[in-house]
Amino acid sequence: MLQIEFTAETAFPPACEAVALLVSEDGARSALFTEVDRATEGAVSRAMQAASFTAARGKTLSLPGPGGGLSRVVLVGTGREAELDSRGAEAAGSHAATALKTAAGGLLDASALPAALAARAALGAALGAYRFDRYRTREKAEDKPRLARLVLAVGEQAAAQSAWTPLAALAEGVSLARDLVSEPANVLTPAVFADRIGELAALGVDVEVVGPAAMEELGFGALLGVSQGSDNEPRMVIMRWTGGADDEAPLGFIGKGVTFDSGGISIKPAAGMEDMKWDMAGAAAVVGLMATLARRAARVNAVGVVGLVENMLSGRAQRPGDVVTSYSGQTIEVINTDAEGRLVLADLLWYAQERFKPRFMIDLATLTGAIIVSLGHEHAGLFANDDALARQLLEAGTASGETLWRMPLGEAYDKLIRSDIADMKNVGGRPGGSISAAQFLQRFVTGTPWAHLDIAGVAWSSKDAATVPKGATAFGVRLLDRLVSESFEPAG
Ligand code: BES
Ligand code: MN
Ligand code: ZN
Repeated sequence: MLQIEFTAETAFPPACEAVALLVSEDGARSALFTEVDRATEGAVSRAMQAASFTAARGKTLSLPGPGGGLSRVVLVGTGREAELDSRGAEAAGSHAATALKTAAGGLLDASALPAALAARAALGAALGAYRFDRYRTREKAEDKPRLARLVLAVGEQAAAQSAWTPLAALAEGVSLARDLVSEPANVLTPAVFADRIGELAALGVDVEVVGPAAMEELGFGALLGVSQGSDNEPRMVIMRWTGGADDEAPLGFIGKGVTFDSGGISIKPAAGMEDMKWDMAGAAAVVGLMATLARRAARVNAVGVVGLVENMLSGRAQRPGDVVTSYSGQTIEVINTDAEGRLVLADLLWYAQERFKPRFMIDLATLTGAIIVSLGHEHAGLFANDDALARQLLEAGTASGETLWRMPLGEAYDKLIRSDIADMKNVGGRPGGSISAAQFLQRFVTGTPWAHLDIAGVAWSSKDAATVPKGATAFGVRLLDRLVSESFEPAG
């Protein structure tokens, strides 16, 4: 991850030859801005004039080789001073880190910002600088050097540093989730995924790995039916963070971790099937969240449960029409082997509820293509049996930038999954496909406040955005970290 440092030093020459200056539309220029403009003999103000740079939010102006011993000066507009919020500061930090275009260290002048926003700028820089280049054996093109270190010049160094500490944990959690989602399915099998989760033990997370024999023993018929066609064994991994009182019920986070979804015997079309390596993004988000909570020592108890399976075809694969008995005891007619995520979650939800009696359960899953038809790539679908939890999630979504849109649940939709020979079937038809999937999940929740996030449209991005470079987004980590800190941790 990008290395972040804070300094109170704003004298000239700055600590790095590449400098980014935050410029607002209406605020005063910083001392460093004035120094840099003087040292470059007015090159900065001339360039602003010539380019009609107004410092509008999100606009940048880059001056390579401006003189004064500097390799580059980048101006980053932050808009009107009073309107700059966390999200705006994050975007500014990200734009700065990207525009510095140097492999050496860069300096970001954030001295005009209050400490909390300066820390947000650091978060934006760290998130925006993310790259997955584990499988590149050659450097990427010259124009995209990887910034190794960013020094932020700030007014109140101690305050900025302490505001940054929990955000650094969050940035690490997001990076971890993005790494996991980006890994190809030949590398990240369920067993390897479980091993990677084991590394969270070093952060103080209690990690328990459950293999197929134990799942057989428990009676996880729904999950095991999905994995039976694959040569890669399934795993269930339970992560526990205890930052609250011993007798306090944990918050429950459940993730779909299909390391590859071929569709099984109900095989998917070839075009785009490679995307199904990221069908474990829900599980990755839970892992990223648990790592974040542990790293920032969140004062709450939380349990994460992920079901890691590969949905493949073989002579042992589950067939359409098979009937399986879930851990809950309810039977399921598997009409379509490609509706596998809900089968995995069915056993996890029942297990988590029974064993941990959580205050709530929130599951994350790249569950349906239908949610992309409904909401595109802008919102994840939110389904909930509890209005208070839904409201808290919607608010955390807006604040974090990982936005949700609430979808309905109801008896009429539940009828769609009635089976002629079993307690339910695993598909409810095309109309309202995301809703009948959620109804299916709800049959495995009894009494516990529950929310389901269908993240199929938001787990992977095909275009660069400020704090979310294209590729794995880690959707859910920022959202749920926010939910925990705003609504479930003691204040102060
Ligand atoms: N993992 C897919 C959902 C998905 C599709 C995610 C496209 C991202 C992009 C899920 O397992 C699936 O295959 N769902 C089916 C359900 C159908 C068979 C009822 C779908 O959405 O087509
Ligand atoms: Mn599927
Ligand atoms: Zn799937």
